[in-house]
Amino acid sequence: HLAPVVAFDGPGGSGKGTLSRLVAARLGWHLLDSGALYRLVAVVAAREGWDPEKPADVDRAAAAAAALDVAFPVAGDGSDAAVLLAGENVTAVIRDEAVARLASGFAAHPPVRAALLELQRRLRREPGLVADGRDMGTVVFPDAELKLYVTASPDERARRRYEQLSLSGGGANIDQIYWDIVERDARDQARTHSPMKPAADAVEVDTTGEDVEQTLARVFGLLSERG
Ligand code: C5P
Repeated sequence: HLAPVVAFDGPGGSGKGTLSRLVAARLGWHLLDSGALYRLVAVVAAREGWDPEKPADVDRAAAAAAALDVAFPVAGDGSDAAVLLAGENVTAVIRDEAVARLASGFAAHPPVRAALLELQRRLRREPGLVADGRDMGTVVFPDAELKLYVTASPDERARRRYEQLSLSGGGANIDQIYWDIVERDARDQARTHSPMKPAADAVEVDTTGEDVEQTLARVFGLLSERG
């Protein structure tokens, strides 16, 4: 018997990160921020100077992904637990947009995805897992009890990202963020392997113009329908 999973997929800034954290906290379930894993690989790659266009560097990144010594915040207590890379606190570093871009570059390559697949499935534990990513419902947890595909308009996603970055003290330019988001989504959607897309049995949740409480109420409505 495998622990139950609720999958949240969708583009960056759609609200899925906030939603999955709150749902995990309310259910008392574990939380998997799978994007953080791809971002950790990108941090290692950036430091080593690896290029996602070079096959030898992709192999190096896949080996680094398989060997990730990651203390991952899986406790579903709603807190922002630190993301540690070999003991170093990289919680702020991984949020950088340059890191996100590099993460998206390496995420297009099957060896990197394969290396992270086992790690993600190992985090499936009782009483349950809330999984946040791009391919949670399609590839990593195809048997999830509930699959949500969370979207919002590009403008709204850029505004949310801008607010997040401003809060964390980073100098942010809203036009730059808009184009970064549009470009990264296009790449994540267009890739051959595990593209970002709704699973056939996913429920689409558009959060444009909604606040978190409104969307949460809808999500819990769907959860109770599934029992
Ligand atoms: O969600 P987040 O913005 O942290 O993800 C960073 C990047 O990691 C995404 O743009 C995507 O390319 C990649 N990713 C992925 N599959 C996931 C989660 C993230 O390919 N399940």
